[in-house]
Amino acid sequence: MSRRTLIAGNWKMNTTLDDARDLAWAVAEATEDVEVDVVVIPPACFLVPVAEALAGSHVTIGAQNLHAEDKGAFTGEVSGPMLASAGCAWVLCGHSERRHIFGETNELVGDKVAAAHRAGLTPILCVGETLDQRDDGVTEVVVKAQVETGLAKIDAGAVERTVIAYEPVWAIGTGRTATPEQAQAVHAFIRGLLRETYGDGVADAVRIQYGGSVKPDNATQLMSQEDVDGALVGGASLKAEDFAAIVRA
Ligand code: PGA
Repeated sequence: MSRRTLIAGNWKMNTTLDDARDLAWAVAEATEDVEVDVVVIPPACFLVPVAEALAGSHVTIGAQNLHAEDKGAFTGEVSGPMLASAGCAWVLCGHSERRHIFGETNELVGDKVAAAHRAGLTPILCVGETLDQRDDGVTEVVVKAQVETGLAKIDAGAVERTVIAYEPVWAIGTGRTATPEQAQAVHAFIRGLLRETYGDGVADAVRIQYGGSVKPDNATQLMSQEDVDGALVGGASLKAEDFAAIVRA
């Protein structure tokens, strides 16, 4: 089963308006001729200008977070329908910084995944263990709960249209990448979970990205693993040439 590679750049809380536009243009130019899906994930306030900057290009746009409700009295929050109307196609759900800094639980992340699908967005469900959990030998227990609860509120058809990003917390922003073998082992475990619950069709269709200190010099090896279908890139996505080099890998 061949799955189209998906490379997404999560800009996190970086860039100003001018930087965001410049980076979006530079990414579009530097990745023009590639046969992979390229996504940029700017801060929420720059989604519209970035969407305008990328109009007509091959690069699509994602958001870093959404609220689980579609609208209402939730000061400061952004909903799925808002993101879709702003030009987003994708949204991160349960990024490790949302889980660990902002206290998002597996249940809340599951609600957000459902909210994304209601709005016609493709959720990128982020999962991954901390260093303590890896050292304690509970990586699979943790990831299983994150995947199962993260997908609990959607049906199999929606699961097939969901992306999963495996991002070991100890590899995010640390310069410490999982080895290709470590990544492949967890990716295969996640695909096995999908196979048990949803069958071959869904398991073979879902794209599973790796994230955590992906750089131009480690991307090729990571991407060559059988169950690694792309990358979710943080730091290296802020430099168009580095991000483009990862896209080419
Ligand atoms: P990093 O971030 O590439 O800077 O480690 C990855 C992520 O948080 O998605």
